[in-house]
Amino acid sequence: MTSASYLCGSMHSDHAELTAAIAALRDGHLVGLPTETVYGLAANALNAVAVARIFEAKKRPHFDPLIVHIGKRSDVDLVAREVPPVAEVFMNAFWPGPLTLVLPKQPAIPDLVTSGLDSVAIRMPQHPVALELLQALDFPLAAPSANPFGYVSPTTRQHVLDQLANEVALVLEGGSCSVGVESTILSFSEGQPMVLRLGGISLEALEAVHGRPIPTQLSSSQPHAPGQLASHYAPARAIRLVAHGEECPAPGAPFLRFYQKEQPEWSLSADGTTGSAATRLFGVLRRLDEEPDGPEVWIEKAPEAGLGRAINDRLVRAAHRV
Ligand code: TXA
Ligand code: MG
Repeated sequence: MTSASYLCGSMHSDHAELTAAIAALRDGHLVGLPTETVYGLAANALNAVAVARIFEAKKRPHFDPLIVHIGKRSDVDLVAREVPPVAEVFMNAFWPGPLTLVLPKQPAIPDLVTSGLDSVAIRMPQHPVALELLQALDFPLAAPSANPFGYVSPTTRQHVLDQLANEVALVLEGGSCSVGVESTILSFSEGQPMVLRLGGISLEALEAVHGRPIPTQLSSSQPHAPGQLASHYAPARAIRLVAHGEECPAPGAPFLRFYQKEQPEWSLSADGTTGSAATRLFGVLRRLDEEPDGPEVWIEKAPEAGLGRAINDRLVRAAHRV
């Protein structure tokens, strides 16, 4: 199947595209799904054959479970068999939005989706196109980021087409992702929240709602989520990092600062905020890869607070060489 006929879409999907997406998903095909974080590669989460196509298309190892996306609060019960009261608090505070909750799984969710785990990751995205599609379907969507496994996540429709055009029935147009890094993943063991992946909802925002510190488990030695692997989000181009506020130690080397007013094209952030840097991060990494064998690029990290933590997490993994 080809997406060529969709190449000239506007910044938002029209009715005909949505109808085509619904039909393709019902038939077990894959659809590129815009969300506020990154574009997803979506399939019917209740159809194991369709879900298997996601793993094939991404060359994703089967031990890496998928996130299930829902369009309304009442759909949680189709996916999770139990919602602890503490999880409910986070749903009320952050859904729809870039927060994924790991909850006990319903038997109807195929084991392939959860890599055999008894838990399932669920989120309600905030993007209007994603919500409209999800609300029009009578099944939830399993959707990892729409990139080959281990590579930089896509934040525009074109990014998805660049690598996965032959794998999808179509990619819905949703403009550039407004958040730009993936959702924050929160699990609950013995009723206590724990962050498994830093993302679009900051640790500070979670802790403000919880009223207490929340532990993180982002280690790379025993990953609970492959986003925790030491090398992930990785472009082919070699990257070196410097701490926020420091100068580049290699004179003359290409140096992308976090923010410099005089040279916006050599800045991660367009205005000095971490929000802007998050939106631009994956696009910048992809642009560096237009010259994969170019000289190694030095990148100044974000301040280690708020969204800056998620940005730095991605930068460290993007810079890691195995
Ligand atoms: O923002 C996002 O979350 C995007 C958009 C498309 O929604 N999706 C995304 O999916 O980032 P993906 O597959 O790239 O990352 C999902 C992460 C994986 O690292 C996976 O291991 C973790 O979620 N995960 C899924 N189910 C899990 C579970 N039951 N327990 C722990 N981690 C889980
Ligand atoms: Mg991913």
